[in-house]
Amino acid sequence: MWPDRRLTDLLKIEHPILLAPMASAIDAEIAIAVAQGGGLPSVPCAMLSVEKAREQVNIIRQRVAAPINVNFFCHRPVEADASREAGWRQRLAPYYREMGLDPAASVNAASRAPFDAAMCELMEELKPEVVSFHFGLPEPALLKRVKAAGCLVMGSATIVKEAIWLEANGSDIIIAQGAEAGGHRGMFLTDNIAHQPGTFALVPQVVDAVKVPVVAAGGIADGRGIAAAFALGAAGVQIGSAYLRCPESKVSAVARGALAQASDDSTVITNVMTGRPARGVANRAMREVGPISPDAPAFPHAATAFVLLRQAAEKRGNADFTNLWAGQAVAMGRELPAAELTRSLAEAAQAQMRKLAG
Ligand SMILES: Cc1cc2nc3c(=O)[nH]c(=O)nc-3n(C[C@H](O)[C@H](O)[C@H](O)COP(=O)(O)O)c2cc1C
Repeated sequence: MWPDRRLTDLLKIEHPILLAPMASAIDAEIAIAVAQGGGLPSVPCAMLSVEKAREQVNIIRQRVAAPINVNFFCHRPVEADASREAGWRQRLAPYYREMGLDPAASVNAASRAPFDAAMCELMEELKPEVVSFHFGLPEPALLKRVKAAGCLVMGSATIVKEAIWLEANGSDIIIAQGAEAGGHRGMFLTDNIAHQPGTFALVPQVVDAVKVPVVAAGGIADGRGIAAAFALGAAGVQIGSAYLRCPESKVSAVARGALAQASDDSTVITNVMTGRPARGVANRAMREVGPISPDAPAFPHAATAFVLLRQAAEKRGNADFTNLWAGQAVAMGRELPAAELTRSLAEAAQAQMRKLAG
């Protein structure tokens, strides 16, 4: 059924369609649905405690017999810099006042933590079929333990140099994340967003540079995009934005409304929401403070100052301060249950491939 079976065979999945891990936007419910549709479910753990991560994996395992991809960030943590934080609060103070908030109010934010020894122990306990990383790979000793637990390792590359590095350092599968992709760029050997190639240019060059299977990500939202990814040499696709409007996603009603109104030119790459470049539907904060600001505190500290603003604005019914992560194909997302969407994507891709084969 699929022209390249390396990924379906390796992961033991029916369709080479991977639900993109999307921290805070999805949980076990949509993962279960994607698994039921024949794709690979994911559990994004960047914003979860060890207990919550265990709970999410167990919920999926109780409901469906399917391989699971557990996902982590592995950025180098940077201590919050008090003077930079103060400057950032100062920059956002007019918005605080407009929302009737105290600009000096303290915030207890859910932070984005990198993979560490505690999470590594959890992977040894749970032994998920796949563990994937964004922003490079964890330190070699931790990665060795993940591999010794029998997990396949998947890493994200935004340029060919990163793909070669990931393969040399233990990735069994490489995600080629093009500039179209929603969310944070997985970049780790460069920080130049102006140079990030698009999916169409990146995928074949990564395929030529590495031996491991390559998964295309970024701007893929229908059967034509999946067929194109296979034509470029990918063995699978990772799809995020197209799933955001499924009823099972955890996107808030306000953000859902903003995503539903988005078009092909609605997204920008911004660093203001978290301190690291990510693509999302442009909102007031991204437009007025950025989209790129040299004043944003280092990742993930820039996000803290937006917590109260986001809550207040969403109460008023707007997404002015919500990080509306989404890619350039967000308008192609459909409000379908995720199992049905997965099956429909697979069928449409296969029909497109047959059509192209004549
Ligand atoms: C809302 C959102 C959140 C994301 N969070 C994560 C994450 O937690 N971990 C990760 O590896 N990638 C994350 N990504 C990036 C995706 O893995 C993937 O590269 C991207 O969704 C593919 O592009 P697409 O959105 O055009 O399908 C996120 C993307 C979005 C849209």
